[in-house]
Amino acid sequence: MIIAQISDTHLALDTPDAVQRISDFERTIADLNALDPAPDVIVHTGDVVHHGRQDEYAEAVRILSKARAPVYVLAGNKDDRANLRAAFAPFGYLAPDSKFIDYAIEDHPVRLIAVDTLSASSNKGDFCPERVKRLIDMIDAETGKPIAVFTHHPPFEVMVGPERLHFETVEMMDRLRQALQHSGRVITVFSGHVHRAAEGHVGHIRASVVQCIATTLRKGTYPPQMKAHPVYHLHRYDPAWGFITETRIVGMAAAASIDSAARETIGAA
Ligand SMILES: [Fe+2]
Repeated sequence: MIIAQISDTHLALDTPDAVQRISDFERTIADLNALDPAPDVIVHTGDVVHHGRQDEYAEAVRILSKARAPVYVLAGNKDDRANLRAAFAPFGYLAPDSKFIDYAIEDHPVRLIAVDTLSASSNKGDFCPERVKRLIDMIDAETGKPIAVFTHHPPFEVMVGPERLHFETVEMMDRLRQALQHSGRVITVFSGHVHRAAEGHVGHIRASVVQCIATTLRKGTYPPQMKAHPVYHLHRYDPAWGFITETRIVGMAAAASIDSAARETIGAA
């Protein structure tokens, strides 16, 4: 199974770099469509658009509709739950009357669980007791398969950058970390939000952050020739080895891809 993870496209229609953000997004989808073997799913880990506006979501849907693989989106802090839900309703996986944007996808050897970490009051993450229960209920709904969890805000402290903690409080992040560890079936957590690559752990569970697709917002140091090349992650799953992650550079030769990141066995989870 191959999961393509993209994140933080921050699609905008009236920022000075709006054309570049649209181009970054479109070129990423074209790159995904050219992959052989093709990904089984594409998961967007949030901040799909920059202002939460309906016209921004219409543009995002136009671009994502070109993807050959099924696409699932999470809500990031720049997203608007109601507008996102309305825009992506035709794809059929978002509950129309749900308070949160969270769901489980059951069609693959690994269950995919999307978690809602949005805060009503800040750009940082929140994880309230109600969401703890919802996550545990989703985890416990099936007991035979390993689980990959997707969040916008990472459930570990990112040691580089101005902010280490991407939740409003340590307690909120700890609630999420405890829920993730409750069954032993979650083997990985894939996040966004930070705009730079990072790796961490939730107990014995591997966790990683993918760079943002929007090249004008990317953090970290890259060579000048990387400036207009979006980056995303391919997570390949093997029952014996768990997930192995490759970083893909859009528009560069395959040989230039950076082999990176991690492997984790199911047995260790
Ligand atoms: Fe974000």
